Amino acid sequence: MSDHYPETIVPEARPGDPNTAVREISTEQAAREEALVREVVASFDDTPSPRLKQLIEALARHLHALVRETRLTTEEWDAAIRFLTRCGHITDDRRQEFILLSDVLGVSMQTIAINNEAHGNATEATVFGPFFVEGSPEIPIGGDMANEAVGEPCWVEGVVTGTDGKPVAGARIEVWGADAVGFYDVQYSDNRTAARAHLFSDDQGRYAFWGITPVPYPIPHDGPVGDLLAATGRSPMRAAHLHIMVSADGLHTLVTHVFVPGDEYLDRDAVFGVKQSLVKDFAEQDAGTPTPDGRQIDGPWWRARFDIVLAPARGTKDEDVHWIAVHEGHRLT
Ligand SMILES: [Fe+2]
Repeated sequence: MSDHYPETIVPEARPGDPNTAVREISTEQAAREEALVREVVASFDDTPSPRLKQLIEALARHLHALVRETRLTTEEWDAAIRFLTRCGHITDDRRQEFILLSDVLGVSMQTIAINNEAHGNATEATVFGPFFVEGSPEIPIGGDMANEAVGEPCWVEGVVTGTDGKPVAGARIEVWGADAVGFYDVQYSDNRTAARAHLFSDDQGRYAFWGITPVPYPIPHDGPVGDLLAATGRSPMRAAHLHIMVSADGLHTLVTHVFVPGDEYLDRDAVFGVKQSLVKDFAEQDAGTPTPDGRQIDGPWWRARFDIVLAPARGTKDEDVHWIAVHEGHRLT
């Protein structure tokens, strides 16, 4: 029997890989480490909620696996605590660093993938992001959601249907986006409401509005998450996108984006939010091109089409509402 623990004890270990600080440990050392993991997991044996028990036990097992695989040093553990402390200190009503951390680690997107399984031709979901605000102004079909936000005007139109192809009348469509500078209204200190609105589809499921042509923008990167991105050579940029959330009775609420083709960040979006099916045609129109609703625009403008297919509700409406409520942790007040 070997004095060295076999690879199976730490399955993620990659001997010889300089990125993992794997070193040989004795059988006795491995046994001590495993005994601690068992003891910690067993400490949750009496958890009344089966779901909480499952979650906390998995958290303990995976955290210990990380510590053991990397042979985490006390200095590194201390640095991790300091990092999380900084995330907490910079978080307030207008800044949510833990969601940013979840986003840049792909955890937000993985959670969305798990909770929005593919359903026929239903439009794909993507990250909610930190900039949704409840109580957006209502606009009529064809209305302007920009409300003086700077940017090139963009006419967005489409039809909301179910997976059966039938139009969905009265669907609530929330739209929000960054301005041409790359900021959402809530990132300004003057309490403005701009580049966000909601509207309802007509009796044939149609909708249309004037918005702002999306541009790439960086996620807030002046805090610990930004430091993490810099230390790992990653860009804080998000591919240009417009946020859309669509809800209707009996249908699964869709939280998604529409992306601009050709954007340089489509293949390295900082939060892994890009889905090819959400990259739509944005067509630039020369200055003077007549607009769909006769609006006079001095310079060039854009138009995009985004047809939306909603999946049936999963289980009860309450579950959809719960899902949104969970994500309201993102919203800024
Ligand atoms: Fe965004």
